[in-house]
Amino acid sequence: MPPTLGQRLQEIAAILTRAGIDDPRREATLLLGHFLDLSPTELLLRGDEKIPAPAGLATAVERRAKREPLAYILGKTDFYDITLQVSPAVLVPRPETELLVEETLARIANDRPSRWLDAGTGCGAIGIVLARHRPQTTVIGIDASMAALKVAAGNQQRLTAHLRLLAADGRHLPFASHCFDGIVANLPYVAAADLIGLAPEVRDFEPRSALDGGPRGVELYLACLPEFHRVLRPGGHLLFEIGADQEDIFRHHLTPAAGFELAEIARDYAGLPRIVRCRRCA
Ligand SMILES: C[S@@+](CC[C@H](N)C(=O)[O-])C[C@H]1O[C@@H](n2cnc3c(N)ncnc32)[C@H](O)[C@@H]1O
Repeated sequence: MPPTLGQRLQEIAAILTRAGIDDPRREATLLLGHFLDLSPTELLLRGDEKIPAPAGLATAVERRAKREPLAYILGKTDFYDITLQVSPAVLVPRPETELLVEETLARIANDRPSRWLDAGTGCGAIGIVLARHRPQTTVIGIDASMAALKVAAGNQQRLTAHLRLLAADGRHLPFASHCFDGIVANLPYVAAADLIGLAPEVRDFEPRSALDGGPRGVELYLACLPEFHRVLRPGGHLLFEIGADQEDIFRHHLTPAAGFELAEIARDYAGLPRIVRCRRCA
């Protein structure tokens, strides 16, 4: 006799608990629900039903127990108000990046055309949300990784967002001077030496090229700042996500002498400095 759905959930949660997963019950529900095409509520309501094990479930649980990110196993993740397809070619978009999106949307006019750059677009998360919420805005997403851009292109087509995608390095932008009203960036910002101490999901599975920001983690951003300054119009906005211990470094660098006026470094849900908001000096 196959176990009931409730028993199966418990079995999966027990395997995930042994593997050290933080919220095993929630992840077990998401995994089982994915393979049976049932919502968490449906799973709960049908807990006494006996259903044979769906094909692929055991392998998926095994992968998760080896700490592969759930988003790679399911092939998708929720971000802001959309569901994005993801693969190991891209970083899994994080909840704190939704704050960056909020802060950015608050700075893009809804009633007139403008031009924004999403630097380090990855799976297209930020750029696609901006394009969907601000249809008058031309959003261009760049990334140094062709593999990431392929994932972004798939998402852009599926979500019918008018995000233009381009292979480019943030340090050498192929754009004319002063051509953007704003730039939003979530570029790699982990210090190289800190990579080893990250959770196995990040350290062993996410692309290093999406994480490693240089010796102190800030080097890539600092190298991009002169280019961002060049392509922004005077008064243009720059918003980007940083590491929790990098506030002082950016306060030091984002000065009128460098061509920027720092407005705020906003905190994330954990109260840590995370979102830099500044403007190019006029
Ligand atoms: C932290 S991930 C962010 C992905 C996505 N924007 C998000 O918020 O989930 C950083 C992205 O920057 C890209 N990247 C790394 N170095 C870059 C560079 N020099 N120029 C442009 N993109 C770069 C990586 O390939 C990766 O997709």
